[in-house]
Order: sequence, then C-alpha cells, then structure tokens
Amino acid sequence: MNPDVVLRLADLVVEFPTHGGRTVHAVSGVSLEVRRGETLGLVGESGCGKSSTGRAIMQMPRPTSGSVFFGGRDLTMLSAAELRAVRPKLQMIFQDPISSLNPRRRIPDIVGDPLRVWGRGAERARVVPEVLEAVGLDPAQVADRRPHEFSGGQCQRVSIARALVLEPEALICDEPVSALDVSVQAQILNLLEEMKRRYGLTLVFIAHDLGVVRNISDRVAVMYLGRICEIGDSPALFDRPVHPYTRLLVSSIPSIEADGGHTEVGSGEVPSPVNPPSGCRFRTRCPLATQRCAQEVPQMREVIPGRFAACHHPVVEER
Ligand SMILES: Nc1ncnc2c1ncn2[C@@H]1O[C@H](COP(=O)(O)OP(=O)(O)OP(=O)(O)O)[C@@H](O)[C@H]1O
Ligand code: SF4
Ligand SMILES: [Mg+2]
Repeated sequence: MNPDVVLRLADLVVEFPTHGGRTVHAVSGVSLEVRRGETLGLVGESGCGKSSTGRAIMQMPRPTSGSVFFGGRDLTMLSAAELRAVRPKLQMIFQDPISSLNPRRRIPDIVGDPLRVWGRGAERARVVPEVLEAVGLDPAQVADRRPHEFSGGQCQRVSIARALVLEPEALICDEPVSALDVSVQAQILNLLEEMKRRYGLTLVFIAHDLGVVRNISDRVAVMYLGRICEIGDSPALFDRPVHPYTRLLVSSIPSIEADGGHTEVGSGEVPSPVNPPSGCRFRTRCPLATQRCAQEVPQMREVIPGRFAACHHPVVEER
C-alpha cells in the first residue's frame, strides 16, 4: 500500500437481512483511500450508508464483503485477537456524546479507561490530565463529575479525549456535531482541527451538513444509496460538481443555511436500499438519465483532473 495512504477501502459491501427475508443494501461496493494527515469528508442524505461505512471500517460489525486496509493489513482478515491489537490506532466518535458515555462513571475514569484496558493503567495519572487539558477541560474541575452534569458539547470533548488517549493514527467521526447547538458546533470543529495537528491524526468526517464538510475536509466523497458518486478536493468539488447528484446536493446549500442545517434535497424520493434501482442508483431522480443509466452501473473514472465520478453523463462546465 502507498505509504501516504492510511486507510483503503476496497469494494466494501454491507448488507443487513430484514425480518421479511429480504436484504438491505446499505453499502454496495465502496472503494476509496484516505491519505495520511488529511480529513476526508463523507456526505450524503440520511440512510445512504455513511454510518454503515464508518462502522464497517471499525469492523463493528464486520462488513459483508470487501477489504479494509489499515496499517498494511486487511482488517477483515484478522482474528478477533489481532483486531484488538489494532484498535488503539483506529478510533471512532459518535453523534450523541451523552449516550455514548457511561453515566455512572466519573470523567477521568471514562477518559482513562482505554489505558486501563490496554494494560497501561499506570500512565493514567499523567496522560488523562494532559488529554483533558488538550480538549479544553480543566482536570481539577471535572475530577469528581459524571456525564449528566455536562452539556452536549462538553460531553463531546470527553468522548474526543477518550478517543485520543491511546494516540490513534486515524479517527472516524460519525456526525460528531450534528446533535450540538450551532454555536457549540464551531468549537468542536475547531477542537478536532487542533487535535488533528497536535496528534498528527487522519480523519474520516461523516456528516450530512455540506457546510460543515466543506469547511473541515481536504477531500470529500459523496454517497448516494450505498455507493460513492463523486470524490475530489474540497472546496473545488462544491464549486464545480460534475455528478448530477452532487449538483443537486450543492444546489440545496442555501436552503440548508436558512433552515439551520438539514439536507432536504428536492426532486423525488430516495428509493429503498432493499430494492435499489438497476444500473445507476440515482437514475430515478436524475434529470440527465438515459436508457444506458438503467442498464449499466457507472464506474468511477477521472472526469476532470483530480476529480472522480461514477456517471455516464457527468457535467463538465467550461471555465
Ligand atoms: N443494523 C441494521 N439493520 C438493518 N438495517 C440497517 C442497520 N443499520 C443500518 N441499516 C439500514 O442501512 C441503510 C444505511 O444506514 P446508515 O445508518 O448507514 O445511513 P446513514 O447515511 O448513516 O444515515 P443517517 O444520515 O441518517 O445517519 C439504511 O437504510 C438503514 O436503515
Ligand atoms: S449515470 Fe445516468 S442516471 Fe446516473 S447520475 Fe449519471 S446521468 Fe444520472
Ligand atoms: Mg449515520
């Protein structure tokens, strides 16, 4: 693997059985690379498979098929014990910070727990205050306190501290600010940027809010119904989207800002991942769809330099 690439997904598939004996095609052949030190944004409407992709990277649960290369190894091929040994280097934080923290435990114990689990309990007295300070919490003030005594933003600081205590190489952030007030969102995004620099982290940043992703990401991957439609540098991808779905998403940005951060894209319903359309999955909502789009799955290709899209008829505007 290219040493600049920290994480590589190859043909990742995540499927869930339904009670009726059918299959939810949550992630259907996602391939992408995350480069050392970058923030890769993963965007798309609710239910498009962002969290399933994030959890499949962590092997929580293991994907249905495909590979996740991290640290030179395919995590999908590792035994549970081997995977445990990799865990400290690959961490994840979630949308709802309060419910992801054990309410009965004190903040320093929550943050120090990974050290204890990894047999490095003796380091807690030194490392925990350091990391708490790094995330902007006063170690003396939080010493005897539990999660319910804190706001959502402060709890997200705690969960970031807990994720950083083992000094991971990569951090998967699944909508880490979506549940927070807008004013607090900016503080947590700044904190993630600062932690990225300080700890040399590589980030995968999952969100449905394009404004947030645009600001924080070096590159962006756009997902629709379990597949990647377009990948490229940010903000160029937002300024000059080539995939019809990205264009639709981007054209909805003003309304996102007006209504406080929800991506409601017009132009039709998203089909069910239980029965996705043949060929291009976006074809039922795409203004440019042709017969070919129903027959042939579009493959990812470089449409303009550095920009990859999976579309039979990408839109390349002259500049
Ligand atoms: N454990 C599960 N069992 C069955 N179906 C699931 C499971 N987890 C996710 N799904 C389904 O898989 C699809 C993708 O879900 P996922 O949570 O990955 O989407 P998402 O992009 O993270 O959405 P959101 O923006 O709402 O968080 C959805 O249709 C969802 O209902
Ligand atoms: S492949 Fe066809 S249906 Fe899909 S986005 Fe491109 S033009 Fe639209
Ligand atoms: Mg999600």
